[in-house]
Amino acid sequence: MGYTLESLGAEIRAALKADSGTGGKDAVCGIVTKVLLDKDFVAKHLTSDQCKPRKVLYEDPELGFCICGHVYEKPAHGEPHDHGSSWAIYGLAEGDTEMTDWRIVKKGEGGAPSLVEPEKRYVMKPGDAHFYDVGVVHSPKRDGLTRLVRIEGANLDRIKRSNIKAA
Ligand SMILES: [Fe+2]
Repeated sequence: MGYTLESLGAEIRAALKADSGTGGKDAVCGIVTKVLLDKDFVAKHLTSDQCKPRKVLYEDPELGFCICGHVYEKPAHGEPHDHGSSWAIYGLAEGDTEMTDWRIVKKGEGGAPSLVEPEKRYVMKPGDAHFYDVGVVHSPKRDGLTRLVRIEGANLDRIKRSNIKAA
């Protein structure tokens, strides 16, 4: 049987309650990988009209994590960023994404941004899920139609990203 937002939310909640550390996030990556293969779920929820570029599809009333849908129809090259006090999991359903992980070379203080240098580049393919822990700096580069499921540890509408600049 395919996933619904409710069954997906319940499975993620159970995984995070069983292990609030990295092991729980790894388990969520595994769940997201399965959702990416669920063609009905992707067709129903990752639609351009509602997810361009981001829609919170589900917010967990107990733990606060969010299941978000994203659709990019045009090239979208993100700047290096973290998600403030939240972690995130990116799961790609359609369209390759070139990801860059960045290393902080100078921690920002007193209004000055943290300076970062690229550390690792890799291509995420449809079916791939990747965990970005709190403070991990990354930038996605998309050149064609891209659909993704993103799990936010907390709703990023209410979280400020860190001040980060490429060195
Ligand atoms: Fe991000």
